[in-house]
Amino acid sequence: MTIHIGAKPGDIAETVLLPGDPLRAKWAAEKFLDDPKLVNEVRGMLGYTGTWNGNPVTIHGTGMGMPSLSIYTNELIRDYGAKKLIRIGSCGSMQAHVKLRDIVIAMTASSMETPSRGMFRELNFAPCADWTLLRAAVQAAGKTGVPTHVGGIYSSNAFYDERPDLNEQMTRHGTLAVEMEAAELYTVAARHGARALAVLTVSDHLQTGEALDSESRERSFGEMVRIALEAAFSG
Ligand code: HPA
Repeated sequence: MTIHIGAKPGDIAETVLLPGDPLRAKWAAEKFLDDPKLVNEVRGMLGYTGTWNGNPVTIHGTGMGMPSLSIYTNELIRDYGAKKLIRIGSCGSMQAHVKLRDIVIAMTASSMETPSRGMFRELNFAPCADWTLLRAAVQAAGKTGVPTHVGGIYSSNAFYDERPDLNEQMTRHGTLAVEMEAAELYTVAARHGARALAVLTVSDHLQTGEALDSESRERSFGEMVRIALEAAFSG
């Protein structure tokens, strides 16, 4: 047990899928894993461990935003030995050619500040995806037929962002989409020698104001789980 995770030693698999929403962790575990067992419910942050094609997998919620994700990923890696961590989540498109329901695979994530920012002092650390996981996810995404974009994203600290000028700069510099977790995931994984990736579905569009309905969100989420599982065991 750690401060935020009630699982016993050995309850967490080396491969961990990380949706923001704990109820999505439950949904994905029940739909995709064999023999899923609830391993954490502290503060309602559900985590399940089961197997996929005979491979042990944990699916664990992170909550929204980098401070919350930071807590869970630090404990999953340092205390439970997680080695491959794949965030599956949603993002807002920042480019006209990145459409609703498209898949975005994050090579890197810009940010104003992450929970790890302080330790780097004057250094501007560049969080980076694990290359072999990224390559495997791109291949797996290719099989779905869903348009897939690979590049930089923006991990913002605010969903209700009052800095349209910053978004404008991000768009101008080719940033594909905005979400709120990947930069810290990549940084924590790098610090502890783990491998990480973020696979995202476009749930809303900053330029057009469009947003996915709940049925499309669920379908896209299922696709991401499949891509993440395939990537985890071929990358
Ligand atoms: N902003 C921040 N995070 C998000 C968004 C957004 O528009 N959409 C999905 N996650």
